[in-house]
Amino acid sequence: MRYPPLSAATYREHRARYRQAMEKGGLAIFHSNDIMPTSADGTMPFKQASDIFYLSGIDQEETILLLFPDAMDPKDREILFVRETSELIAIWEGAKFSQKEASELSGIPTVLWTSSYEATIKRLVPQCEHLYLNSNEHLRQGNEVETREERKNKELRAQFPLHSVKRSAPIMHRIRSRKTKEEVAQIQRAINITGKAFERVCGFVKPGVKEYEIEAEITHEFIRNGSRGHAYTPIIGSGYNACVLHYITNDMVCNDGEVILMDFGCEYGGYASDLTRSIPVNGRFTKRQKDVYNAVHRVQQEATQLLRPGTLLADYHKEVGRIMESELIGLGLLDKNDVAKQDPEKPLYKKYFMHGTSHFLGLDVHDVGLWNEMIQPDMVFTVEPGIYIREEKLGIRLENNILVTRDKPIDLFKDIPVEADAVEEMMASKGKKVMA
Ligand code: GLY
Ligand code: MN
Ligand code: MN
Repeated sequence: MRYPPLSAATYREHRARYRQAMEKGGLAIFHSNDIMPTSADGTMPFKQASDIFYLSGIDQEETILLLFPDAMDPKDREILFVRETSELIAIWEGAKFSQKEASELSGIPTVLWTSSYEATIKRLVPQCEHLYLNSNEHLRQGNEVETREERKNKELRAQFPLHSVKRSAPIMHRIRSRKTKEEVAQIQRAINITGKAFERVCGFVKPGVKEYEIEAEITHEFIRNGSRGHAYTPIIGSGYNACVLHYITNDMVCNDGEVILMDFGCEYGGYASDLTRSIPVNGRFTKRQKDVYNAVHRVQQEATQLLRPGTLLADYHKEVGRIMESELIGLGLLDKNDVAKQDPEKPLYKKYFMHGTSHFLGLDVHDVGLWNEMIQPDMVFTVEPGIYIREEKLGIRLENNILVTRDKPIDLFKDIPVEADAVEEMMASKGKKVMA
């Protein structure tokens, strides 16, 4: 394994959190993702479903987890199914989990082969009162492809049409949003590698480099540090491209005098980091670029301090909008009188700052969480204000990852330079090293 997994004690803790939210007589089932086909005999790299990974730590296809806390036989209270391994699989695909290894990693005593899932279901479902089935209830999910979990849920509902069915998703959103200590440590490892990649890029960028060359530098640094790669498709956009919010083609030249917006984050042990930095191609911001940069930075600092327990995310976002509004007036981009008369449903700042400020971060980069409840300690959020001035071919976004505590928020990016002067210094010092 490329990364140290979390401890079995942490996976036990995650399952205990889930169990506490179940009703009496409930039986919950979680499935892994499919290995997705491409064409001919090609497949995409396997990506485990976040919920089963959170509850078991098993990063392998064809894994199933069953939680049945009120089962008569203690051996049936937690069952993990893993793909049966064989000499042939070992030769062609490499080692898969043995039952003993899967048990040690997850802390689940009963581990069976996936081939015995159907028979186990037939035996246990009649003993339960409610079936807890999982589904993707992420606010922005929009997949057309049916997942393995959806397929298996359909089969189960056809097989047991009279059982009461309950949703796991709200429970998962709740428990996954408050990170355990080991999860925060894993996110921090991901962030530290992302920081190394940023340093590397600072020494690499100069007029004439291509956006994809920067992407290659980042990927190199990620993989050599034990990451499997990017937590999401990186955005490397210079000049006008920085104003294209989901720019991922990364195929243009970075020109002297432009600012490059780089939004990238490494995945480590299944956990995401999510950084954005905007740096001058030639190593020095112009006065105008620095003014816009500092405005974004001030918004980021103030927004970070607003991430306190008890605040509603909707109120937080409104407050950040007000801070941004006054910065845009300061930059001469908005007129104070126009702002005073604006339709509050369509605030003028959205012309220059058209996306949200924060999202949950964890196993998924846009992690699951409870958007309509108050912020709580142990939640991890991004803080990512930006100002995009298309007419000036200038887009600046800064993004850090923040841990909410009972007290002050903790900036998990505190070791990664963000002030304009610190970025210029880093470019100067790292650039020299590369030249030497
Ligand atoms: N990298 C995606 C985001 O910042 O939300
Ligand atoms: Mn990002
Ligand atoms: Mn983000």
